[in-house]
Amino acid sequence: MTGPGGPAKAAVMGDLGVIVAVTAGLGLVVAVLGVWAMWALRRRSIGVMLAVVMVVSVTATLAGVVAITLMMIIEGRVRDIVLSVVAVAGLVGLGVAFVLARRVVGESRRLAAAVRRLPFTAPRGLPAELQTIADTLEEANARERALEEARRELVAWVSHDLRTPLAGMRAMAEALEDGVVADPATVTRYHAQIRLEVERLSAMVDDLFELSRIHAGALRLSRARIGLSDLVADTVAGAEPLARAKGVRLAAEAGQAVPVEADAGALGRALGNLVVNAIRHTPADRTVTLRAGVEEGMACVSVSDCCGGIPAADLPRVFDVAFRGEAARTPTPDGGAGLGLAIAQGIVEAHDGMIGVVNDGPGCRFEIRLPLVR
Ligand SMILES: Nc1ncnc2c1ncn2[C@@H]1O[C@H](COP(=O)(O)OP(=O)(O)OP(=O)(O)O)[C@@H](O)[C@H]1O
Ligand SMILES: [Mg+2]
Repeated sequence: MTGPGGPAKAAVMGDLGVIVAVTAGLGLVVAVLGVWAMWALRRRSIGVMLAVVMVVSVTATLAGVVAITLMMIIEGRVRDIVLSVVAVAGLVGLGVAFVLARRVVGESRRLAAAVRRLPFTAPRGLPAELQTIADTLEEANARERALEEARRELVAWVSHDLRTPLAGMRAMAEALEDGVVADPATVTRYHAQIRLEVERLSAMVDDLFELSRIHAGALRLSRARIGLSDLVADTVAGAEPLARAKGVRLAAEAGQAVPVEADAGALGRALGNLVVNAIRHTPADRTVTLRAGVEEGMACVSVSDCCGGIPAADLPRVFDVAFRGEAARTPTPDGGAGLGLAIAQGIVEAHDGMIGVVNDGPGCRFEIRLPLVR
């Protein structure tokens, strides 16, 4: 049963179906053409792409409206009004797209110009995505500059550190060669001194080589399951002669088993560097203590000494390459090149661990934390 007005309603529904089908069909054709155009222009400016998007949407609307007005034989004023409304809306859309495209193109040119200027500082007020790119670039640039600066400093300091002992060795070698020194005691002393300097310089060259491998990401770790307590015992045994020579006591506190996945050689070297530093900065008759244990779910090994504390201003810098604490880099008999802690940090980070230092009690405490093996 159809109520009054039923056939009219059905006719309207039918018309609506036709309208939807026609506009969707035309829209699909225009969309396919638009996608093809976008693909063909994919390497062109974002402005061109925006123009394509706008042309596609205006054309789809126009095509639909024109088809429908023709099909329904809408004539005269109504058709003119509909078509001009669509035309004006299309023009407005194109205008807005043009303004937007100009802005995007202008801002990306501004970014490109800023990148070419050095040092790079990110321009402000860019659209969000461009601003993210600019900020990321600025960070990367600053990191790169800091690294470059550190490299330059290292080369300057290392050449300074090499020059002084080399000049000394040369003078001694010349004196021996020319027979300027002849008494057996001095000759023996010179020979011993030259051997000592050669050993020190070789150790420094080894350190530099190790550091450059760490920085190049070429450190190859052969990891195995090891116990931190064993590592502490080995390190103490290795450092015993040095400690005895300085009159420093070495103590190890490692009760429980602390298993880690590590390269024993590399990690031993890192811990050894900490212990040598601790012995160097601890007065005779005082103690350097090594502890291995578990803290906050991480394997932890620490070296405490009696150095009297590191100045607060130096604390964040001790791991920097070539940092040695004193401003004047006068070589001291037992002074190093300032590479030990940078190497230790590189090795620990290659093990996905962390290394840090705090002033504690009569001295400072260096601490290595590593992921615990379950
Ligand atoms: N245990 C410590 N107590 C006090 N100061 C320390 C200690 N360890 C390191 N430092 C400070 O940090 C600086 C850097 O240490 P690092 O081990 O990197 O270099 P270095 O010992 O001077 O030379 P290298 O290790 O290359 O022989 C030291 O020169 C010293 O000033
Ligand atoms: Mg050192």
